[in-house]
Amino acid sequence: MNQKKLVGDEAATFVEDNMTVGLGTGSTAEYMVKAVAKRVKEEGLQLTCVSTSTVTEKLAKDLGLNVKNLAEVGTIDLTIDGADEISPDYQGIKGGGGALLFEKIVATNSKKNIWIADATKLVDTLGAFPLPVEVVPFGSEHLFATFSKKGYQPSYRLDAEGNKFKTDAGHFIIDLHLEKIEEPKKLAQALKNEVGVVEHGLFIDIVDQVIVSNEDGEIEIFHAK
Ligand code: A5P
Repeated sequence: MNQKKLVGDEAATFVEDNMTVGLGTGSTAEYMVKAVAKRVKEEGLQLTCVSTSTVTEKLAKDLGLNVKNLAEVGTIDLTIDGADEISPDYQGIKGGGGALLFEKIVATNSKKNIWIADATKLVDTLGAFPLPVEVVPFGSEHLFATFSKKGYQPSYRLDAEGNKFKTDAGHFIIDLHLEKIEEPKKLAQALKNEVGVVEHGLFIDIVDQVIVSNEDGEIEIFHAK
């Protein structure tokens, strides 16, 4: 049972003709992009798409979707994206794929956000998944030391060659191994207050709807707002 495909296909049914659609990043979002492209081919939907990463942009363009820069579009009607962890009050951690900054920019410029995930992403408390923090390379070693002192257990994200991973915007990612985030909103604010932090992977009060599939392939839709 491919749970990621199930939720990707389901989410694509929420796309309507003439919409501007934000396309998320990651292995689950990939299925959604393919399902959206299939609908465009089969039903002749007229869509304008914006992407949350260079990887998704390439996939979407290869599949024939009409992808524009964010600057070229007005408000985004609907953004569909994956998530790394989702709490019972629908706060989330995103950025496992390193696209958190563009994902958050697209999400916060969208009228509606849908997250798609398999049921393993639903957690009681956020934090077992390392929290990505996107930082400006200049002086990031000092931020790293600050995070260490605060007990955040930081580690630099590395790429396949063992070099510091660079995001689409040219920043580094420091992953925080927090185990449990008791107060996500407080932590989100504290991280934003650190000079050199560009963005973090806590997505607070952003999602409207969550589409989840369990091991048996049953789909559940939760309404967060
Ligand atoms: C990309 O940076 C992330 O925010 C993804 O949306 C998230 O990591 C989910 O990815 P998967 O669908 O691959 O688990």
